[in-house]
Amino acid sequence: MRLKARFAGPLSGRVRPPGDKSISHRALILGALAHGRTEIEGLLEAEDVRCTAAAARLFGATVERTDDGRWIVEGAGGFGQPAETIDCGNSGTAARLLVGAASGYKLSARFDGDQSLRRRPMNRVIAPLTQMGARFDAPNNRLPLVMHGGKLSSITYRSPVSSAQVKSAVLLAGLQGDGETTLIEPERSRDHTERMLKVFGADIDEVEIDGGLHPRVRPGKLTGARIYVPGDPSSAAFPIAAALILGKSEIRVDDVLVNPLRLGFYETLLEMGAKLRYEERRDPIGEPIADIVAGASKLHGASPPPRRAPSMIDEFPILAVVAAFAQGETRIVGAAELRMKESDRITMMVEGLRACGVDAEELPDGLVVRGNGPKSVRGGAQIRTQDDHRIAMSFLVLGMGAKEPVIVDDAEMIATSFPGFSELMRGLGADVTEI
Ligand code: S3P
Repeated sequence: MRLKARFAGPLSGRVRPPGDKSISHRALILGALAHGRTEIEGLLEAEDVRCTAAAARLFGATVERTDDGRWIVEGAGGFGQPAETIDCGNSGTAARLLVGAASGYKLSARFDGDQSLRRRPMNRVIAPLTQMGARFDAPNNRLPLVMHGGKLSSITYRSPVSSAQVKSAVLLAGLQGDGETTLIEPERSRDHTERMLKVFGADIDEVEIDGGLHPRVRPGKLTGARIYVPGDPSSAAFPIAAALILGKSEIRVDDVLVNPLRLGFYETLLEMGAKLRYEERRDPIGEPIADIVAGASKLHGASPPPRRAPSMIDEFPILAVVAAFAQGETRIVGAAELRMKESDRITMMVEGLRACGVDAEELPDGLVVRGNGPKSVRGGAQIRTQDDHRIAMSFLVLGMGAKEPVIVDDAEMIATSFPGFSELMRGLGADVTEI
């Protein structure tokens, strides 16, 4: 399915983004590992998360959706031998977290995924889990692979990358270790696993090493819990970006997760001069939540510091689009991880921006975008998305502010993270149509 977006004047209204993807995966996985009943409200009902739900069932949990949209997981208190291949679809989070969670159980599981996921590196979890005692048949260190789990030794692992997926895989394996498992990463990545493990009763704390605090887990029993999934800030980023670049817009996005380790994009927008504010902050569930109000803004270029990259890793594509509508240069560096995502997001963004008449340049670990203000972007291109949902949504937002319509060649993948994206944007006044 191709989608077309074109200029349609200011956006206004109030929306609630779909549930946070990272928290949704974790709620299902921890629920399946736990003893007893877990009740999840607000789960993201998107392809990626459905893969994790199917995997939880294959590992032995009962997972059901109630008529009023809650999800109930009856955990078996651990993972058992799956009867089939674990299909992780397009989801790196499903693949890496599930491999970690399963590695401490006496089972052999085959993991696979779609073409995009088969290209992505798995050595980043294979290496620490092998050190702990798991065994892998993994030609090329990619999917499909077979993992043989069993007795694990606890380790202190210094991850070469700041990745919440690696951190989570090691911590989840550590639940079945024989002592303390500690994860050290260069910059702190999102901490939803740590926060949620506490809610499920795990023995987890932080330890100071080299002047920084790092998560440490000891083996122990998890008990089912009630989880509320707030709106996803990575999805909220798209309507908010569109409101900033479209003159006279003002929108309110309700119930957004505002965990500080997810807010790098919003920090950068504020530095660019965005009219953006958080209202009604609250913290009912061990994760902070707020409503975000955003309005049309006169933006200038900005250069986010490299240490901020992990807290905005999924938002660089949409930041690059916002930068095209800002005045001056935006320089993104320290973001080589972008090449490991659903597509090589550095190459894909630069290629697409150039096709839309934007001055953009590729760097080994980032990109430079030279913007010329809100009315300067031509658009008028068909964008190659390469199975990448965030590339598709970013260029549709570009099309909403450009002089000529933008078409994305395949919008199917948007369903992996943001079902109802087009409807939500249309509800705010955007012109997005299927062609
Ligand atoms: C995620 C971590 C990030 C992010 C992904 C979700 C998670 O990946 O890009 O969309 O839920 O842990 P990395 O940990 O590989 O950076």
